[in-house]
Amino acid sequence: MAQSDLPKNLFVVNHPLILHKLTLMRDKSTPSAVFRQLLREISLLLAYEVARDLPITTQTIETPLAEMEAPILKGKKLVIVSILRAGNGLLEGMLDLMPSARIGHIGLYRDPETLQPVEYYLKVPEDISERPVIVVDPMLATGNSVSYAIKRLKEKGAKDIRLVCLLSAPEGIRQVCGAHPDVKVYTAAVDSHLNDHGYIVPGLGDAGDRMFGTK
Ligand code: URA
Repeated sequence: MAQSDLPKNLFVVNHPLILHKLTLMRDKSTPSAVFRQLLREISLLLAYEVARDLPITTQTIETPLAEMEAPILKGKKLVIVSILRAGNGLLEGMLDLMPSARIGHIGLYRDPETLQPVEYYLKVPEDISERPVIVVDPMLATGNSVSYAIKRLKEKGAKDIRLVCLLSAPEGIRQVCGAHPDVKVYTAAVDSHLNDHGYIVPGLGDAGDRMFGTK
C-alpha cells in the first residue's frame, strides 16, 4: 500500500525499536516465551503513541517548593478491549503503561469457510460511553472481526474508539477504516496481502498459536 493510499485515520507507528522487535517476532525460529515478551514490549510502545491525544486538564498540587497547576489526564479511566484470544497478548504491555485502565473482552472466532466473525462472549464496563476505548488485536487481516467488534462496542455505547493492531493487511485496513472512519487505527506495519486462508503475508503466522504455543 503506497503511503498516498493510506486512509487518513490510519497511523503507522514505525519507530526503529518497534520495527526491530517486530522482525524478531516475525522470525519463525523465535520461541513462544520470547515472542510474548517482544509483544509486551511493542504494545507498551504502541500504547504510548495511541495515548498521545488523550484529553488533559490541570489539578492544583504542592511540590516540596511551591503550589502549581499540574497537568493530569481528564475524565474517566480508559477501557482496553481485547479481542480474544490473541488480543490478550497486547494487554500486558498496555497495562504496564496504563495500569488503572478497565479491561473489556470480546470473544470472536472466524468461521473457517466464510471467514466471517462469530461472537461467543462480550463483557465491557457499563459506563463505556463515558470512557475512551482502545481495541486491541495483533493481526488486522480481513478486518471482518475487528469491524464487527467495533460495531458491537458502538452498540454498547462506546463513542471514542481507537484500534491498535501490530500488523495489518491492506484488505483489513480498507475494511475497518472504511466502515469506521471515526476510529483512529494504529499499526506497526502494513504488509503485502492476505493468502487464500486469510493469513497476512509475510506476516508472522498465527499470532495466537505463536503466543500460547498451541499448534
Ligand atoms: N490471524 C493471525 O493470527 N495471523 C494472520 O496472519 C491473520 C490472522
